[in-house]
Amino acid sequence: MKIRSAAGLKGEVALPGDKSISHRAAIFLALSDGEARVTNFGTSADCSATVNCLRDLGVTIDRADSSLTIHGVGKDGLKRSDRDLDCENSGTTMRLMAGVLAGQDMGSVLTGDESLKKRPMKRVIDPLVLMGASISGNGGRAPLRIIGRRPLKAIDYVPSAASAQLKSCVLLAGLNATGETSVLESTPTRDHTERMLRWLGVDVREIETDKGRRISVDGSARLSARDIDVPSDLSSAAFFIVAGGLLDGSELSLPGVGLNGSRRAVVDVLRGLGVDIEIANERISCNEPVADLMVRGRAHMLSNGRNVLSGAVIANLIDEIPILAVAGTRLAGGLEVRDAGELRIKESDRIAAIVENLRRMGADVEEYEDGFRVERSALRGGVVDSFGDHRIAMAFAVAGLFADGETEIKGADCAAVSFPAFFDELKRVINQ
Ligand code: S3P
Repeated sequence: MKIRSAAGLKGEVALPGDKSISHRAAIFLALSDGEARVTNFGTSADCSATVNCLRDLGVTIDRADSSLTIHGVGKDGLKRSDRDLDCENSGTTMRLMAGVLAGQDMGSVLTGDESLKKRPMKRVIDPLVLMGASISGNGGRAPLRIIGRRPLKAIDYVPSAASAQLKSCVLLAGLNATGETSVLESTPTRDHTERMLRWLGVDVREIETDKGRRISVDGSARLSARDIDVPSDLSSAAFFIVAGGLLDGSELSLPGVGLNGSRRAVVDVLRGLGVDIEIANERISCNEPVADLMVRGRAHMLSNGRNVLSGAVIANLIDEIPILAVAGTRLAGGLEVRDAGELRIKESDRIAAIVENLRRMGADVEEYEDGFRVERSALRGGVVDSFGDHRIAMAFAVAGLFADGETEIKGADCAAVSFPAFFDELKRVINQ
């Protein structure tokens, strides 16, 4: 894919439904008692992988583009799949489904693509084994062979990483355990699981302790089917927020975007740096905060402070760091990211990918074990690599808009993992 430098972007961007919320909507409604519809379901390949796994487990899901009708089988009604469940590139599918399958009286195998088979799964294996499931992995990695047990033993768990996938995995297993299962979260992570379980009638208890927030579910809870309208995906919007916000003369409208407090730091940070993002019509939809965003491009006046992102905010904007790194090349004070070692175990080693691609485009960057520092740099067109990672592909497409001349993104097709229409939407707003 080739991208040329661009002036202002104009128009309304059609975004996919939120990926995190879509996975949960499909899984939780599959486990519910009754039938319900999901609208604005994510068009991403990752979300389709979740639907396919659930169908392999005997759940009937009727799909028409971004609408699903899910015929829930109840939390104990899944059927053994006669083939391995393919999570493709999706860590969320694998980690959440591991929590579900640990509490089913049957065997299952979760597998995925080459990238997913390299990612750490010990973090979910450990608590599920403590709860009584039997799981063997390939050195703590997929494929995961799970022999489930019902009921599982309830646990009080302190996660080994600040990860919403891990938290959700344990809480889902807790729905098939005897008594109350808790997760003690010292660094808050996205809370879509808690919000959606409540939407479906589950009593999710939260207590603030001196060590963090303790989140609990009871194994006797059942999920009631209820329609879910998925907000548009903020992590996908972030590419357009940065592109539109930093290219002078842009005016982009992004309606119905999820603005959950545990996800919105990207918006707050960019506003703090001087990016003009108007937030209108804030509302709650199916227990999730949503708003309409309008971004206006102003190339001047962007922060000249020593901009450092570190500590607890990292979990809140973990998926937006590749595009924030690109934004950093336009900030007078550059941008430093620390405490972000988790980026090394995402769909690619995102720290290495960011640093390598920024250097290929002539930026001044330093790499740290847990992050990087990028100085304000004039980017020049060049050949960059997606490293098979959707967010790297899209971040560097935006870098191409900022750069002189032409930028070629090798392996850009992987954008479909989260945002299949990304390049079409980008071209559309460039030409308006
Ligand atoms: C996700 C949580 C995050 C995020 C991923 C989606 C989720 O991962 O990076 O894209 O839907 O729970 P971790 O929770 O493992 O950090």
